[in-house]
Parts: sequence; structure tokens; C-alpha cells
Amino acid sequence: MMMAGGRTEDSGGWQRVFLLAVVFCTARFCHAEIGSREDAFVGYSEKSYKKTVFPAPRHGNEFLIFSTRFGDIRVELLPESSPNAVKYMKSLVTQRLMDGCSFYRAEPAGPTIDEGRDSIRPGYALVQGGLYSCGRQETKNLHVETAVNNTKGAVSLITGTSEFFFNLEAHPEWDGSFSVFGKVVDIDSWNVLRRIVALPTRQEAHSSGTILRMLQSPVPFKTRLELPTPIQGS
Ligand SMILES: *[C@@H]1O[C@H](CO)[C@@H](O)[C@H](O)[C@H]1NC(C)=O
Repeated sequence: MMMAGGRTEDSGGWQRVFLLAVVFCTARFCHAEIGSREDAFVGYSEKSYKKTVFPAPRHGNEFLIFSTRFGDIRVELLPESSPNAVKYMKSLVTQRLMDGCSFYRAEPAGPTIDEGRDSIRPGYALVQGGLYSCGRQETKNLHVETAVNNTKGAVSLITGTSEFFFNLEAHPEWDGSFSVFGKVVDIDSWNVLRRIVALPTRQEAHSSGTILRMLQSPVPFKTRLELPTPIQGS
């Protein structure tokens, strides 16, 4: 909207600052579409992710890409440290077993109370998907590969299953229990995960007694494998 002329320089300057702030906010940082639950995810800000993110991929590793309605999540695969888990995940893609599957569980990081209990616990800070969501889940007894820890951005196979999850915070308590087969290495992928973990969930008891936060509307994905663009001069 154009401003009427004839204002003093002072007020014009103030308006420019205000307008700049609005444009900056809209363009970059203010994820208003995430809604009020954003407040619970302070730990997932772009800034905090950039501080903890893995270094950029350097090994020419293949990527497993999940395309969702919020954008792509690119996972750098780690065949050197987790050969069996990577081979299994790739087989799910190439055999098209992942077709029509979804992310179905989203656990925020902030303090939470499970229904029917009265103690506060930290959220599990993860987004989970796999063949369960399309009725093809299977028992897969791969031995755990422990060369990579469950750091923020690491993607882990749930031992004995065809399900996997993204660590939205570091989970040292799970090191040695799950094979980390890949990692998120770019901010756009991270922001897709932030969108998913902000979606509404309902609580559901797992047979183990764990209360799960299941997405009210699971987020379907398509998968593909992609080799990185060769680095110039290499
Ligand atoms: C994983 O975590 C353990 C315990 O904190 C540490 O000793 C080990 O060096 C870590 N491994 C890697 C590959 O960073």
C-alpha cells in the first residue's frame, strides 16, 4: 500500500523499518502456518539445527529422498558405517514396498503428559514412518550397527522391524539399540520435519506400554534414491 505524501522524514523512516521487519518476518523466520504448537518446538529452530547439523556430505554417498506435501526430506545414506541397514532401506525403495506408505508418528520434544498418567516427561522428539502405515510391516532381524550415534538429524531403523525414525534431538540413550543408516544434512529437509512434528496427534498405547503420539492425518511420502551431483573438478 502506498503511503500518502507529506509526512515528516522521521515518521517515513519508522514506517520503512516497520515494513522491512514485516517483509523479513514473512520471507524468512516467522512460520505462522505451523500454529501455536510452534512454541513447544523451540529446540527445532533453524538456528539451533545449524549449530548441531552434521557437516555437509563429503563422501559422494547416495541419498534416500522422501517426497511429501511439505517438500522433500533428503537423507544421506551411510553404507560404510551401517551396510546392512542401508541395504535393507534401499531394498524397500527398489522393491517399491514403500509405495503408498506414510509418516504416522510425530513426537514433539517439549515436556508432555501421557493420558491417564500424572507425571511430566520429555517428549521423544522423533518423526516415524515405515511399512506399518501401509499394512506391510515385517520382522527383520538385522544385527544393530552402532558406528553412528543417534544425534540430532540422524535417521534410525527400529531394530527387528521395517520402521524408522528421524531423531529431532540427540538420543544418546538409544545408541547401541538402533542402527543409524542416514542423516539429514540440509535445512530444507529439517524444515519439512518441523512441519510434520507440528501436526495434530492423538495418543495411542503401544503393546510395550509406551504411549505414542500418532498423527491424526498421516503424511504420505514417495521415495526414490539419488546419487549426489558430482563436485566440480573431482
Ligand atoms: C557415540 O557416543 C559415545 C558416548 O557418548 C561416544 O563415546 C562415541 O565416541 C560416540 N560415537 C561417535 C561415532 O561419535
